[in-house]
Amino acid sequence: MTDDIILKFTDAGILLNDGAYERIKHQKNPLKFAESLIKHLSVPERNIFVLTGELVDHYLGSSPSRLGHIKEKISAEPYMMSKNSVEDLVEKESITDDRFNFQVIQDTSKKSYTCGEIKDFTAYFNSRYLKLKGFLSRRPDIKEHCPIKDVGRSDDVVKIIGMVNDIHNTKNNDKIVEIEDDSGDITVMVHKNNHKLFEMSERIVKDEVIGVIGSRKRNLVIASELINPGIPRHDENSMDFTTVFISDTHVGSSTFLEPAFNKFIKWINGNYGNEKQLKIAQDVKYLVIAGDLVDGIGVYPNQEKELIITDIYEQYEEAARLIGEIDDIKIIIAPGNHDASRLAEPQPSIPVDYAKDLFKLKNVEFVSNPAFVSLDGIKTLIYHGRSFDDFAMTVKGMSHQRSELIMKELLEKRHVAPIYGERTPLASEIEDHLVIEEIPDVFHCGHVHINAYKKYKGVHLINSGTFQSQTEFQKIYNIVPTCGEVPVLHHGSFKVLKFT
Ligand SMILES: [Fe+2]
Repeated sequence: MTDDIILKFTDAGILLNDGAYERIKHQKNPLKFAESLIKHLSVPERNIFVLTGELVDHYLGSSPSRLGHIKEKISAEPYMMSKNSVEDLVEKESITDDRFNFQVIQDTSKKSYTCGEIKDFTAYFNSRYLKLKGFLSRRPDIKEHCPIKDVGRSDDVVKIIGMVNDIHNTKNNDKIVEIEDDSGDITVMVHKNNHKLFEMSERIVKDEVIGVIGSRKRNLVIASELINPGIPRHDENSMDFTTVFISDTHVGSSTFLEPAFNKFIKWINGNYGNEKQLKIAQDVKYLVIAGDLVDGIGVYPNQEKELIITDIYEQYEEAARLIGEIDDIKIIIAPGNHDASRLAEPQPSIPVDYAKDLFKLKNVEFVSNPAFVSLDGIKTLIYHGRSFDDFAMTVKGMSHQRSELIMKELLEKRHVAPIYGERTPLASEIEDHLVIEEIPDVFHCGHVHINAYKKYKGVHLINSGTFQSQTEFQKIYNIVPTCGEVPVLHHGSFKVLKFT
């Protein structure tokens, strides 16, 4: 039934958000209701429309004029999600404990509807394109743009928005970027002598969506500007508490640094450290864990040789024993590529079946990867960081050692994992949940086992290192991890506490 409803809408060019799906599912005859709603919406061919719960409510309780309003929205803005629809996408779950104002703003755990068909693949890229085009279309410099198919008619300045199909250099070392929109494709050239622009073009990756301003020369667009969806400078929100960020504890591995982790637990409970450190501990309200809580099993060949706990259930039991010692702090856990969640991103939260003891802990919240949460009003984007592998491999100047540079780039591209089909497995969902819809106060990642920090346009970019000492793999590649050095935001200022 789930797939039938979703496919009916997908066939009609309509993407459902959670709210819309829930409302439709609870109708007496959901399929008949879907048919009737699709008929009323009559989305023009080739257009994509995002149907929200609010719009379904309008339909359910509407007079003909309100329905007309819905139709008006479709024809006026076929490619844009309305402000209301964005608000409707936001899930708000309040917990009962009054001490914490914890809210899940976006969690993809229950939004995985893909059935792996080609049309899902098309819907996925359409969704990504439309969302990112929406951000670009709000920028004054590229607001007035034309479909790629109309570039040939333009003798003046060309302004286009497209998804990157390919990037390569010419024999002369100029940059060629192939881009497409829903009307056609075109080749964009960035001249090597345009140094600043060429440098920017070196950071373009496949499958991101960019704006281009330039001039037409035969069938080429010579770029004079390249524009990211980007983020504006962000005003800092005040914080009268401390949030602690960790990741990549890898419980179960023989290289898990249990003594250091025990010191950390003692500190967070206010039983370890000097006066200054204890003062920070006193104010800790939230602990965020950005993936790879346990080492997992079968993640890479011969992993069992490096495990002291070879059963995934027991690894989570051990993690629950350690974390269970933490009192009076809200703990938020997202999965990483070593956890028991599906590998493809967005990763749903760690399944309860694997981690029963952890689920029993009242102060633990499980979220997806990525997830967007609010911690007493501090908006925090949690992403494990698998896409860093792709950036380190393909983008000049990017490396695991400087993950803050990759995080900055992800914010500018408004997507946590834009490169499709490389090392980061991405699920072709009907909607692309990896788009960074809102600007966070904090962007927290892990995965590379190396601490990083940067304040970028008012956003704290934090990579929280690891509690695992250098592995055999890391020795081969000369990767030196940052072990047991825990980043915290104490009343809004960044500090690192060492537990080794
Ligand atoms: Fe990882």
